[in-house]
Amino acid sequence: MNKKSVNDVEVQGKRVLVRADFNVPLDEQRQITDDTRIRASLPTIEYLVQQGARVILASHLGRPKGQVNPKYSLDSVAQRLSEKLGQNVSLVGDCVGTVAAEAVSKLQDGQVLLLENVRFHAEEEKNDPAFARDMSALADLFVNDAFGTAHRAHASTEGVTHYIPAVAGLLMQKEVEFMGNALERPERPFVAIIGGAKVSDKIGVIENLLAKVDALIIGGGMANTFLKAQGYNVGKSLLEEDKVDLAKQLIEKAKAKGVELELPIDVVVAKAFAADAPHRTVSVSEILDDEMALDIGQASAAKFEARISTARTVIWNGPMGVFEMDAFAKGTEGVAQAVASCGGITIVGGGDSVAAVEKMGVADRMTHISTGGGASLEFLEGKVLPGVAALQDKA
Ligand code: 3PG
Repeated sequence: MNKKSVNDVEVQGKRVLVRADFNVPLDEQRQITDDTRIRASLPTIEYLVQQGARVILASHLGRPKGQVNPKYSLDSVAQRLSEKLGQNVSLVGDCVGTVAAEAVSKLQDGQVLLLENVRFHAEEEKNDPAFARDMSALADLFVNDAFGTAHRAHASTEGVTHYIPAVAGLLMQKEVEFMGNALERPERPFVAIIGGAKVSDKIGVIENLLAKVDALIIGGGMANTFLKAQGYNVGKSLLEEDKVDLAKQLIEKAKAKGVELELPIDVVVAKAFAADAPHRTVSVSEILDDEMALDIGQASAAKFEARISTARTVIWNGPMGVFEMDAFAKGTEGVAQAVASCGGITIVGGGDSVAAVEKMGVADRMTHISTGGGASLEFLEGKVLPGVAALQDKA
């Protein structure tokens, strides 16, 4: 990465504003149900603590739409951080103003505090310069470690970089390096697996990857639109009728570029979208009008797995079926095992595929699991992420 990181600057005794992505899922009692993003932010925080910096953490949580709302407080995050870091991380009631300034002024070297949800101010998402300047006044240095929010040009991700020196955190650096290297200098064969419900969410990703990969595997609900483009009846399956022409163009494009496009050859179908719905596996040419495809079939999984087993680089985004229901999880399960076993560089991005590899128990066998949902998609689309672009370049 050609951006400076926290390793390239002096931090001892400095007030360091760290933008993390602590947008973690909470249950009804506001307990954290998955703290992956918190754990992923620890290397940067621990490094800064060890170096004697005064660490001021900032993040958003959910979408409170510019209003103070206790439902979106970062209090549970402060508690989890205190446990993980072995020091008290107090939550400061606001991310700007006197309350924040006073708390920061009491901070000692090596201590950490967490500012309350930056999205309690409407100015955050508007990237309001005055608001960004107020937040930046709390610190001497800005460290952006929020890869998951790097696709947003908000005050706490981009605005503050106009007022104080800005460098990448260790998580940000790792994310950008792993995904950037895979896209720009892949070991070949390079195989991408794209799944999930809709083609429309991933058009940019498919187009960008077609210029880079040796093979593109398409599964999940979005495969139905491609099957329709190939002339198959997809019954009641999820289908984006208005994207069928686009799917045809993508099939042509893959051919023209010499990219092997792998589509399902069989699917698991049911008459209802339900975990206990009776189901059967059929060839893609045999889907009945009242059936819907909810997973790829065994033959497709075997074909995909064979392709994946030869890969030296794999990028996977999106499940192959409704993996939350056991009856329709086998396709995703097979692909997860194949990716884990392939022996190449393996990168998993996007909330659902990450949840899938965790459910399948193969997360620790992947080279890199991205903490970004929307951000990793935009990265795979080849877009410049404003939160990264704003950081200082290496000399
Ligand atoms: C995410 O969860 O993808 C990030 O935290 C960004 O959240 P947002 O989509 O609400 O901006």
